Amino acid sequence: MSRPKAVADVDSRGGRRLNAAHIETPAVSAVGSSGSHPLSSPHSTPRPLSSSRCGPLAGTLRVPGDKSISHRALIFGALATGVTRIRGLLEAEDVVNTAKAVTLLGAPAEKIGDTWVVKGRGVGGLRQPGAALDFGNSGTGTRLMMGVVAGHPIEVRMTGDASLTRRPMRRVLGPLKSMGLATVEDKETLPLTVRGTGQLVPIVYELPVPSAQVKSAILIAGLHAAGETTVIETEATRDHTERMLRYFGAEVRTEVKGGKNNITVEGEAELTGRDVTVPGDPSSAAFLACAALLVPGSDVTIAGVLVNETRTGLYTTLEEMGGDVTFLNAREEGGEPIADIRVRHSRLKGVTVPAQRAPSMIDEYPVLACVAAFAEGDTRMDGLAELKVKESDRLAATAAGLAANGVKATVEGDTLVVHGNGEVPGGGTVATHLDHRIAMAFLTMGLASEKPVTVDDTTMIATSFPEFRGLMEKLGARYR
Ligand code: S3P
Repeated sequence: MSRPKAVADVDSRGGRRLNAAHIETPAVSAVGSSGSHPLSSPHSTPRPLSSSRCGPLAGTLRVPGDKSISHRALIFGALATGVTRIRGLLEAEDVVNTAKAVTLLGAPAEKIGDTWVVKGRGVGGLRQPGAALDFGNSGTGTRLMMGVVAGHPIEVRMTGDASLTRRPMRRVLGPLKSMGLATVEDKETLPLTVRGTGQLVPIVYELPVPSAQVKSAILIAGLHAAGETTVIETEATRDHTERMLRYFGAEVRTEVKGGKNNITVEGEAELTGRDVTVPGDPSSAAFLACAALLVPGSDVTIAGVLVNETRTGLYTTLEEMGGDVTFLNAREEGGEPIADIRVRHSRLKGVTVPAQRAPSMIDEYPVLACVAAFAEGDTRMDGLAELKVKESDRLAATAAGLAANGVKATVEGDTLVVHGNGEVPGGGTVATHLDHRIAMAFLTMGLASEKPVTVDDTTMIATSFPEFRGLMEKLGARYR
């Protein structure tokens, strides 16, 4: 599929100006409405791709901005008073859909030169949109925006693609309803109409699942409530919401009580527009890093990557497997730690990845499983229940993709064990189920397997990492 296209004009200072409302992403059909297979691509035609063995990967490059931080910068910009300027925003479909959503809610997001500018309306100041908000493939955009809508006296129709309309929303609707959000229909999956209120009730809520999206939705709603809202998490999840809310001027404190994070936000908050620089996405960098580990002779540096410890579980695991992974030039930018990550080809051994590490590498298990296929010995990954409710059932999709390529793997409950023996036959076709990370993980595997690995569709890679193929080819990867 093509990259999002934008209608451009020129601003008064001669800069190029793109309005989010004008950015075209492919039309999305709700489940069943098109009469096609429910997990068929929302893009016009699936585009398969094969990767095959290549020479050493080498070079230094950057990956696009972090997806989680990009969504939050747009949303907090919309809730702030004044202007927020965002540099390095990820321009992928998921984030573009959030930019369109805040624009429809009355806080225009547009690109001027190389900076995205959001004209905020203040906490509680967004207005009734004139159309449904379409989040495409994005659970993050949807769930965070439910927290936003909760605090406004507006009624909003939310929809998404065939993957998103299957994903569980009860986890976020439950706590938000106890604060005052209402759903118009008696259902808990998209498409859905939600009705907010100007008078939210603060809550204390212990997360039943480790989810930064749920935590963030409640904290965002808490900005509007009359009093303090507290989210308790047993396992630490990515903390970009807490960091960025503080940066925008909200009162947020994190206390550890009985080994659990208690995160409290003051209600009736006021946010002030800020300048945000988005660091490189460690979840996108993961594919480049893993490819470099697998392809003999490789030496790759990915510059300016977010290395917040709530996101770096994969890199810890790769080091434990014997991977030559180094964080260079550690520094801080915009309240987040960043570094340049250098990875060199390494012989790997199987390890056990503890369940407690899952939140810090939740999006990286498919590519770790592909790497583990090349390791000597078993790699055991525990605590993967959440993988079943991602853009696809990633546990099943990963196991099936490995099996299709001659790799022995077993799923026991929430545990995946990959039985590596140093070599991967390849030669199979992987069903991607509209899941960008399944597609990119197996395309990474094919760079070092004996026969090429094919994925049945690559169009959805544009939801998070449109530059994937181009950057990999710059390093020396081969696709057909
Ligand atoms: C995200 C949280 C995670 C992650 C997703 C982005 C976020 O989801 O998988 O890609 O930005 O908060 P969960 O909250 O469902 O774990």
